[in-house]
Amino acid sequence: GLISLRQLLDHAAENDYAVPAFNVNNLEYVQAVMRAADKTDSPVILQASRGARAYAGDGFLRHLILGAAEEYPHIPICLHLDHGDQPSTCISAITNGFTSVMMDGSLLADGKTVASYEYNVAVTAEVVKIAHAAGVSVEGELGCLGNLETGAGEKEDGHGFEGRLTREELLTDPEQALDFVSKTGVDALAVAIGTSHGAYKFTRAPDGDILSIDTIERIHKALPNTHLVMHGSSTVPQDLQDLFTAYGGEMTQTWGVPVSEIQRGIPFGVRKVNIDTDLRLAMTGTIRKCFKEKPENFDPRSYLKPATALMTDVCLERFEAFRTAGKA
Ligand code: G3H
Ligand code: 13P
Ligand code: NA
Ligand code: ZN
Repeated sequence: GLISLRQLLDHAAENDYAVPAFNVNNLEYVQAVMRAADKTDSPVILQASRGARAYAGDGFLRHLILGAAEEYPHIPICLHLDHGDQPSTCISAITNGFTSVMMDGSLLADGKTVASYEYNVAVTAEVVKIAHAAGVSVEGELGCLGNLETGAGEKEDGHGFEGRLTREELLTDPEQALDFVSKTGVDALAVAIGTSHGAYKFTRAPDGDILSIDTIERIHKALPNTHLVMHGSSTVPQDLQDLFTAYGGEMTQTWGVPVSEIQRGIPFGVRKVNIDTDLRLAMTGTIRKCFKEKPENFDPRSYLKPATALMTDVCLERFEAFRTAGKA
């Protein structure tokens, strides 16, 4: 059945594991995550962005998730709003059956201006008050996602940003995190550690200069009881890049967040790990391959079935790697 993020992450903290939060947009994504969860006996976080809500429609999304809960009654499911941009977005999600919302007050509602700390505290605390009254959890975000090599911060959609940010601005400050959590009462905190959304995170295999797991360790020392969230945490595996480019996809060589680095964060309170890009690549790479190999075929099920199967494989790997497996 449906449960809140707080319930799910409290269990993860007690049992020393993390939960991948997969972005979903349609039936095939939901099937992929649920099949992997069923195979591994894992609890799941299905998250929908504003874009996903606009794409699918709240009614369809809600009923897809209810369908998943009915098909897999033994799997705990959290339905989470990814990157709510303002309180009204979070409230409409709560009204539509989400059991958890993210109020991302790190940027103003225009999605591109870095917000003041006071603004972030105010909008997040406002959402916490409303959400908690409805039994819904809240994830906040402190710090700006972006690239430590270039100083480029990013908008929530990952499509560029005006100006350059300093290393300080690109890494969440532990002292401020402590103040933020105590002032807002969030159930989980998204932190900035050098990751960014989309495929192009790093131009080389990341080391501590550009992916700061040390920052997670420092935040965890300041806030040992707070559930931490890693955004922009697709691995962008080489085999998925190769699949995509082998069949005409255009992508320059890139590096994501290695699974081993995410694993290093788990003892330091990382409980939710956001993954969108890897499933996009798995689906689109497979569909490209099918179109190339069987150009005469026009039954959508013939390419959506293998595309869903490859997404399931990615989910399986993450459930095993984060030790979510066996925890449902
Ligand atoms: O935060 C970004 C997620 O990857 C969702 O992306 O807004 O294109 O659905 P989207
Ligand atoms: P990726 O683009 O790395 O998959 O990140 C997804 C994310 O953080 C969604 O909020
Ligand atoms: Na989120
Ligand atoms: Zn994100």
